[in-house]
Amino acid sequence: MADPGDLRKRVAALRWYHTIDLGGGVVTAGVDDTPRRLARLDLPPSLEGRTVLDIGAWDGFFSFECERRGAARVVAADYYSWRGGGWGTKDGFQLAREALHSRVEDVEIDVMDLSPERVGTFDVVLFLGVLYHLRHPLLGLERVASVTRGLLIIETVVDLVGFHRPALAFYPERELNNDPTNWWAPNVPAMHGMLRTVGFTTIRTVTKLPGPPYRAARAVSHHLRGKNRLDLAFRQDRAAFHAQK
Ligand SMILES: C[S@@+](CC[C@H](N)C(=O)[O-])C[C@H]1O[C@@H](n2cnc3c(N)ncnc32)[C@H](O)[C@@H]1O
Repeated sequence: MADPGDLRKRVAALRWYHTIDLGGGVVTAGVDDTPRRLARLDLPPSLEGRTVLDIGAWDGFFSFECERRGAARVVAADYYSWRGGGWGTKDGFQLAREALHSRVEDVEIDVMDLSPERVGTFDVVLFLGVLYHLRHPLLGLERVASVTRGLLIIETVVDLVGFHRPALAFYPERELNNDPTNWWAPNVPAMHGMLRTVGFTTIRTVTKLPGPPYRAARAVSHHLRGKNRLDLAFRQDRAAFHAQK
């Protein structure tokens, strides 16, 4: 795709979830500040020669980033946002792959159908922003563990922050971000416990969650801007974890 004007037009015609720098001054207008989230994952600077599976890849930002960091093979997997149905489409992923001259492969599969027989096993597995969309999160994590032979990087909404016993918050309606596809969010002890339960032995919380004074100030700010209820905002955050077997 030689003409940057043509690329700019094709990019502008799509709705983007990820903010992706496609080169030549063209950056997708994602609703998600993806470079900021990348900085919080502690993704290894070099993935030289490694195989990577990106589960719930959507527009593919993290898949392309792993390829840029030297991964030998990257597979982007998704289902809902690639099939339309209110989530989005696969058009962004396909256009970004073309613009970046990327060799990232794609597979349309639900988390619940992942298995070594269906997709193989991978040195590095990314499971970012997907866990809280699962109705059966522990079962989903079992499937994810089955295809992980090295490092799992998981990022999720965490709730009940500050409670020390393992617990998950349940969202039967639209309690989390007014989104009916959000079901559960663990607290940090529950995330560790769930990862141990599905076979990981070395688990590290990568994110340093802010303390109560900062959380209180942020909750007030969210509440005043109509984003969330004060009590809920105080307990919710996002966190990343690294897990190995
Ligand atoms: C919030 S987006 C996160 C996208 C990307 N991983 C990120 O962190 O920016 C959630 C993605 O997970 C996918 N997803 C949700 N439930 C899924 C499931 N059961 N199987 C496969 N993908 C799923 C959606 O299609 C969507 O692309």
